[in-house]
Amino acid sequence: PAIWAVIPAAGRGTRFGGDVPKQYLEAAGQPLIAHALDALLGHPAVAGAVVALAAGDERWPGWTQRHGKPVLRCVGGGERADSVLAALQALPADIAADALVLVHDAARPNLRRDDLDRLIDAACTSADGAILAAPVRDTLKRADGDGRITATEPREALWRALTPQAFRRDALVEALRQARADGAVVTDEAMAMERTGARPRLVEGREDNLKVTTPADLALAEFLLARRES
Ligand code: C5P
Repeated sequence: PAIWAVIPAAGRGTRFGGDVPKQYLEAAGQPLIAHALDALLGHPAVAGAVVALAAGDERWPGWTQRHGKPVLRCVGGGERADSVLAALQALPADIAADALVLVHDAARPNLRRDDLDRLIDAACTSADGAILAAPVRDTLKRADGDGRITATEPREALWRALTPQAFRRDALVEALRQARADGAVVTDEAMAMERTGARPRLVEGREDNLKVTTPADLALAEFLLARRES
């Protein structure tokens, strides 16, 4: 099938602090979002990308192409799901309803080719799509409001959801519309799909496909990217 990348980049990145949205922080010589785009568009099966930007974003470098492939832009929304939905609606009109879309966080600069290959393979054979994920390594505690432990959660069956997350375009549009109509806040695309009864496949991905959220993450991303390029 046709494969397109969708990058929600309309968040303000307030958790990081400072006034530069985190997708525009630089690591290894370019903004995080450029690394994200390059990882996706550098894959021969990916035809192009749509980036959802905040209204009035003046930092977007204005790329219309990378790797000889189209980079389209649209204005995102108040929640991540709104931004992804806007991007899906901005895909070229002639793209098939069952085209595969790879939704990837702008602030995940270290996506590697082998993970992308395995994700695409899994998504092509799973009716409900697939996501990259990593097993939980720490022991998990549940706490009450006073910060006292009330339970230790078994971690064997728990995974951290990473991106990209790969779904058929029409199925994802429908799932996101449904979530919005229900007033449900979904923190990733798989969650919207799960609400419809779908059971996306987990594809174990590399731990170093990190989402930059704190200054320590940025330092780690810098290290990982510099090591790749040397
Ligand atoms: O805040 P968080 O790290 O979960 O954001 C993940 C991605 O979703 C980021 O790339 C951010 O720019 C994007 N996002 C968006 N529109 C929103 C909120 C977040 O595109 N309204």
